[in-house]
Amino acid sequence: MHTNLPAREERPWWRDAVTYQIYIRSYADSNGDGIGDINGIRSRLPYIKDLGVDCIWINPWFQSPQKDHGYDVADYMDVNTEYGTMDDAKALIKEAHDMGIRIILDLVPNHSSDLHVWFQAALNSEPGSKERDRYIFRDGKGENGELPPNNWEAVFGGPAWERVIEKDGKPGQWYLHLFAVEQPDFNWENQEVWQHFRDIFKFWLDLEFDGFRIDVAHGMWKEKGLPDVDFAEVELLDRHYRPYWDQEEVHEIHRDWRKITNTYKHDPMLVSEAWAPNDQRTAMYVRPDELHQSFNFSFLTAKWEAQSLKQIIDKSMTEVVKVGAPPSWVWENHDVVRKTDRLELGLQNKGKGFEKYGDPKKLNKERALMRARAASLLELALPGGAYIYQGEELGLFEVRDIPEDRLEDPIWKMSGHTDRGRDGCRVPLPWTRDAAGAHGFSSDKSLTVDKAWLPQSAGWGEHAVDTQQGVAGSFFEMIKQALKIRKAEAGLGDGEMNWLESTDDVIAFSRPGKFACYVNFGPAEVVIPYGAEVLISSAPLKGEHIPVDTAVWLRLP
Ligand code: GLC
Repeated sequence: MHTNLPAREERPWWRDAVTYQIYIRSYADSNGDGIGDINGIRSRLPYIKDLGVDCIWINPWFQSPQKDHGYDVADYMDVNTEYGTMDDAKALIKEAHDMGIRIILDLVPNHSSDLHVWFQAALNSEPGSKERDRYIFRDGKGENGELPPNNWEAVFGGPAWERVIEKDGKPGQWYLHLFAVEQPDFNWENQEVWQHFRDIFKFWLDLEFDGFRIDVAHGMWKEKGLPDVDFAEVELLDRHYRPYWDQEEVHEIHRDWRKITNTYKHDPMLVSEAWAPNDQRTAMYVRPDELHQSFNFSFLTAKWEAQSLKQIIDKSMTEVVKVGAPPSWVWENHDVVRKTDRLELGLQNKGKGFEKYGDPKKLNKERALMRARAASLLELALPGGAYIYQGEELGLFEVRDIPEDRLEDPIWKMSGHTDRGRDGCRVPLPWTRDAAGAHGFSSDKSLTVDKAWLPQSAGWGEHAVDTQQGVAGSFFEMIKQALKIRKAEAGLGDGEMNWLESTDDVIAFSRPGKFACYVNFGPAEVVIPYGAEVLISSAPLKGEHIPVDTAVWLRLP
């Protein structure tokens, strides 16, 4: 693995960065309306600094009717009024930079909101017009065009096509939306679309934002002729071949963007959300003239099982290293069940019902936390960059009791109320054990837990920030300590790693500087190597023994 990288101080920041993901709507509410906002993030910068991450990724904060909570963008060059003003955004980037924290934004290039001026213009224009050409409009099949142009299904459920009413008041053409009805897909064969995104890039990079997470980076290009798919049903985290995912042409778009970021002295980073069919295809997104990082989704869908996890790490890492990119580890984000629940219940972010969300009755919370803590230490010891999703540093669990009439994720509606969707990992963050102000989420102390945009459940304060920050042994303090060690150890971050010999139930590897990480998946305790010094462990060791579901960082003799 990467044996010839320059020393950490000399290599680009994004090769080693630990990035903290902020789901802005649920982070901190500065104005008492029950919705997180930019000034809320500003007020929490000291917390983020204390945690010790290098960078923040903020989920889409642009003007948006919020049909998919910001992933439906109406204006890419302004912030959503609910979240604040451009002046707030400028103040945030300045304050973060003053603290040595970088910020990347979340760009949504596959589709816009139906309220984007371009889409409104398209609706008000004739079939075949240049306005319609910026999106994917087609005539329907059937005698009167009453059938959708093909059999594609939307990721959130239902057909991927919506029929519009033309100016004469009659049903007319159909437009493609791979996600919600309110998220029409752009036509990337249209040069105006390319130019629009170049302008958006420059707009935010000129303000010194440090890059973008690229939403659905594998989706923009559709196979010529829009052929039917063999089996229609799709899932968000789908890795099958589809005529709209992972097409060769999509790489041209990424090359165009890399050329733009390369012109900026502050070295912006682009990280791709690409659900490509395998590790090799995922690595293609991070070839030297494309994006900088690509989320490791093989890791995100892994089970808590030593041998399969080791293989996933090995294989996925080998592929990105081949193209010269840093691996980018992620356990949690705003689209998946929290890893506390997942690793304990053996979930892999796929399927439906219990397969996807697990049976909460089977959740052993104590073991779940043990695994989640060990998993975090494992992630932070691996080469490359790492991501932490807000609340992951607190060991939050998936929220499962949001009343149906409060569910907001479009998946709930579009699945015909069969899939509760992703709200369970998006509940506003508990800052205080005390319930006032929705557990400190809101500056308005009178805001009750049910008045936050998603209601917080009973007991939500149990893992609150104020029960953990400064409390020895807490999840938060473990992450903070690990990040401190990671900074101090020149051998951590990107670079060389070697597997160490171990039993089948253990993952063990070394990093330069005689550093080693051991993770014990059980069923038996494992003895640490003779003479090793313990730097940190995810649970107290029993003398020289590593308990089950525990990770430890060591200095080998
Ligand atoms: C990505 C986002 C997800 C969003 C979808 C559509 O998968 O992570 O939250 O719903 O794209 O933009």
